[in-house]
Amino acid sequence: MAYETIIVEIEDYVAVVRLNRPDALNALNAKLLGELADALGTLDANDKVRCIVLTGSEKAFAAGADIKEMSEKSFVEMYMQDFFTPETEALLRVRKPVVAAVAGYALGGGCELAMMCDFIICAENAKFGQPEINLGVVAGIGGTQRLTRFVGKSKAMDMHLTGRFMDAAEAERSGLVSRVVPLKDLMKETMAAARKIAEKSQIAVMVVKESVNRSYETTLREGILFERRVFHSLFATEDQKEGMAAFMEKRTAQFRDK
Ligand code: HXC
Repeated sequence: MAYETIIVEIEDYVAVVRLNRPDALNALNAKLLGELADALGTLDANDKVRCIVLTGSEKAFAAGADIKEMSEKSFVEMYMQDFFTPETEALLRVRKPVVAAVAGYALGGGCELAMMCDFIICAENAKFGQPEINLGVVAGIGGTQRLTRFVGKSKAMDMHLTGRFMDAAEAERSGLVSRVVPLKDLMKETMAAARKIAEKSQIAVMVVKESVNRSYETTLREGILFERRVFHSLFATEDQKEGMAAFMEKRTAQFRDK
């Protein structure tokens, strides 16, 4: 896939999508988000892809929406374009797991983009923030809602109101990221996690994603009912029979997504 602002590679059933606007610290402009949406849709439909890793450079995952592109826009333009909504909704439509590998800055829309992934592994040099307040605006693609659910009201308010950055240790402590690793190991660790996911039954993997995400959208009782229904339904799959037989026969399961 040939794109200008992202690089896509597929290896061993894992697709790596690298944001690639080094001169602008991977700032998210319309071109980049359009290409990202296109790539993710294509990868989601590709049988050779079972897990997607989204990453940036060692200096920046993404330093936010492109301020230079945005600065002169009017309300009417923002509203009529529904600024970045179609692109971000395309990301949220992806049914395969998307893991964010974050090094350096993940600010504003960059932090929001990382939070739209299924989980975040970050390097020790990662810096998360929602500094939109310094520009006279607020987060616009989910930051006020998602950061609050990740780290709770107090820290989310602090981050959005002061615009301060959170380092990797604080991000792990407060539940924003699942793991912190040395910068040199970021891709190795993330790829190992992605390959592990890629070995599972794709059906169960997609059900996990759907079920955990449902916890954001519904009550505990309804969420548990949803889980129970999908849990029971997995007993209609060959992969359930294979997974349990493999355990009893003390061998590795060979899942076939059936
Ligand atoms: C456009 C950006 C950019 C951005 C960095 N650059 N961030 N360009 N939009 N968000 C550009 C700089 O202008 C500069 O280009 C080059 O990248 C390197 O950046 P420097 O500032 O020179 O690097 P450094 O001194 O290391 O500082 C890094 C930084 C700083 C702390 C990350 O760049 C910064 O504060 N960036 C803005 C972060 C921010 O406010 N993000 C939120 C954006 S609003 P030139 O050509 O000048 O050398 C947002 C809203 C989301 O995200 C809503 C979505 C709809």
